[in-house]
Amino acid sequence: MPSDKDDAGWKKFVWNSEKGELLGRTGGSWFKITLFYVIFYGCLAGVFIGTIQAMLQTLSLYKPTWQDRVAPPGLTHTPHDKAEVFFNTKEMETYLPYVKVMRDFLSQYDDEKQTDNMQFEDCGDQPGDYKNRGDLESDMGVRKACRFSKTLLGPCSGLDDPDYGFKQGKPCLIVKLNRIVNFRPKPPYSNDSIPEEAQHKVQAHVIPLYCTNKKEEDAGKIGEIKYYGIGEGFPLQYYPYYGKRLHPHYLQPLVALQFTNLTMNTELRIECKVFGENIYYNEKDRYQGRFDIKIQVNS
Ligand SMILES: *[C@@H]1O[C@H](CO)[C@@H](O)[C@H](O)[C@H]1NC(C)=O
Ligand SMILES: *[C@@H]1O[C@H](CO)[C@@H](O)[C@H](O)[C@H]1NC(C)=O
Repeated sequence: MPSDKDDAGWKKFVWNSEKGELLGRTGGSWFKITLFYVIFYGCLAGVFIGTIQAMLQTLSLYKPTWQDRVAPPGLTHTPHDKAEVFFNTKEMETYLPYVKVMRDFLSQYDDEKQTDNMQFEDCGDQPGDYKNRGDLESDMGVRKACRFSKTLLGPCSGLDDPDYGFKQGKPCLIVKLNRIVNFRPKPPYSNDSIPEEAQHKVQAHVIPLYCTNKKEEDAGKIGEIKYYGIGEGFPLQYYPYYGKRLHPHYLQPLVALQFTNLTMNTELRIECKVFGENIYYNEKDRYQGRFDIKIQVNS
């Protein structure tokens, strides 16, 4: 039990009326210490805000400063389900999910969505050179996007064949290059810089795409692969892309593949690759400039 004397000592510490001290300090002392901490923390906050501001100054609104996380450029395919396409032509429910994914994906490319002449322009259905729409940092504002009509995808457009070939065991696949702001893919300088079997795909103003069997033992089992799209590859007039803010209506050019004579009831590994002077491959990244996919069609 604290004695009365201790109690009085404690009270005196809290408020010492003789010396005019609160918690052992006079008003003036409290004022000084408060002022010190206000200034101290104020400066700290100032340094912090200043640093963040300076960092933000170095960032561009239009171009990501760091885009090395997605090593350019990724090549992706639709449908894209664990990089496998397994179905049975006689069992609709096995291929319907693929058909649905194709339909959903291609709905972005509906002609009705590309009618506004303020947002879209025609860039030709033959391969052409890069379409320069001014510098990223210039004040030209929102840029137009090139139209890309589904009709370019032939039998894989879904317009005539709502099953994208799946029902007949001739499945289509849609391939695109991922968007990279301000990237200009460079076609191969000559056809002898790329593998011999893909050389016939080299032409002006196109990034060629070539697919073949991944495994030696699948040679001759893949059958003919038909390519649809502008120049059967990725035409340069769709580049560069100006980013979400300046190019909100941008459509990536597509290539549709149709496997017209696959060996049935066999698992096949197919590899697709794009070729260009600034397109690289990476063992660790399965989608950098290439991808492979397992396909098995049962019937
Ligand atoms: C490669 O290019 C040369 C010259 O441009 C051409 O003569 C040749 O036919 C091409 N090769 C293939 C396989 O297309
Ligand atoms: C389909 O492939 C087989 C061999 O797997 C071949 O005998 C046949 O001629 C091919 N059909 C067409 C139309 O190319």
